[in-house]
Amino acid sequence: MNQPLKVIVVGAGNRAMIYAGYAKLHPEEMQIVGVAELSPVRRKKAQEIYNIPDDMCFESAEELCQKGKLADAVINGTMDADHVPTTKLLLRAGYDVLLEKPFCINEEEMFDLADVAKQTGRKVMICHVLRYAPFYRTIKDTILSGELGDVYNIQLTEHVSYHHTVAAYVRGKWASPIECLAPMLLAKSCHDLDLLMWLMGDAKPVAISSFGSDFTFTADKKPKEAGTKCLLDCPLDKECIHSARRNYMVENDRWAAYVWASLETEDADVVNGLNPDMETRVASLTGDNPFGKCVWECKRDGNVDHQSVLVNFENGQTATFNMIGGTARGERGVHIIGTKGELVGVFNDSKFTIRKPMPETEEGFTEQVIDLEITGDMTGEHGGHGGGDLRVPEDFVKYVRGEEPSVSCTALDQSVLGHLAVFRAEKARKENRVVSMERDDK
Ligand SMILES: NC(=O)c1ccc[n+]([C@@H]2O[C@H](COP(=O)([O-])OP(=O)(O)OC[C@H]3O[C@@H](n4cnc5c(N)ncnc54)[C@H](O)[C@@H]3O)[C@@H](O)[C@H]2O)c1
Repeated sequence: MNQPLKVIVVGAGNRAMIYAGYAKLHPEEMQIVGVAELSPVRRKKAQEIYNIPDDMCFESAEELCQKGKLADAVINGTMDADHVPTTKLLLRAGYDVLLEKPFCINEEEMFDLADVAKQTGRKVMICHVLRYAPFYRTIKDTILSGELGDVYNIQLTEHVSYHHTVAAYVRGKWASPIECLAPMLLAKSCHDLDLLMWLMGDAKPVAISSFGSDFTFTADKKPKEAGTKCLLDCPLDKECIHSARRNYMVENDRWAAYVWASLETEDADVVNGLNPDMETRVASLTGDNPFGKCVWECKRDGNVDHQSVLVNFENGQTATFNMIGGTARGERGVHIIGTKGELVGVFNDSKFTIRKPMPETEEGFTEQVIDLEITGDMTGEHGGHGGGDLRVPEDFVKYVRGEEPSVSCTALDQSVLGHLAVFRAEKARKENRVVSMERDDK
């Protein structure tokens, strides 16, 4: 009988605490034995939830790593630019690491981390949660079964809703690629380029091109009458779809964990984004909270709100990915074409259709609908991202124990290609040219 994997949470923020939740559901598989977190409020909250002794609570990843190896593994949920510096220390201290995406912010860091993982012989797995969602997992199995024949074109889309676009990429943490070091294609869509490379299987990408811009949030698009802060001086406050009043002055509002993150108080529930009262909201949104700002007053520093990517593969296969921010509904679409048939579906509908050529039928094809029946918020017992979230720590436990990893396994060496595609696509967009996908050929 295996002992539960002993795990320390590093960066006890929104994401890491979701994966840590696997220990509550499956204490026989995983046990949270420590926490390293800069914020005393979040550290205390994690300590209480997992009953962690004082001597296993640390003020930072750096402090933890000075103590030698105190557990089997770490969940690293720090922010994007902290991933590689903290993970290198953790690997050298002897930990295997479950690391959030994007796992690095540039190519140099990516190869540096891969080298340190190799030198230390430790394991790193990336939280590419969508590979674990039953929707994409079933699609991967369909491709592997040969049902579609040889796949020669994949079209992926990601529509980011207007409220998500603004909460994360206009007012939020990823607004300025100069400050957060992760442009929207990396922060949002490294998942999608990872899926694209994974679904293409052994096909080797050789070249990439990309176009994109900020269409909506440039200063010249600001309505003439608009003010600077929604609740303070804007006459459009009640009609604008981005109005802070319409989006954040409601109980159980969307993106609360982002919107109220600046309310650092002794009340950890507030820090974790749970329903501050209306008076607190007004004070915050008319004060320093960036979520109270007019969206056309936000610092964008060249970030895009939509971007298209085109990839050419060695044996002539092609693929496209379109990320479009600002849509009414957030959704991911997929269309895969093989020599024997095609597959088309929408992740958020949890359904896809397989069509096969069939001359004898009236329409010229047969159609089979696969409904995975993941309903509502698509969370279920396996967590958000269409049931992907909690399947990640489940597979991480197996991976660390040396058991057969699942077909979704996002070990570091299997995650490099998707991130490389992001970095080369960004280069292609900025330099307005086709860029090679060869590692040494930039
Ligand atoms: N897999 C996904 O689908 C998904 C979705 C959203 C966000 N993310 C990624 O998850 C990561 C975390 O996002 P979040 O919203 O949870 O962030 P967060 O700000 O809520 O949490 C990060 C935490 O790390 C702590 N921290 C920073 N440096 C530290 C250090 N050196 N030692 C210890 N603690 C440290 C911070 O104090 C903070 O509490 C980001 O990289 C983000 O891009 C992934």
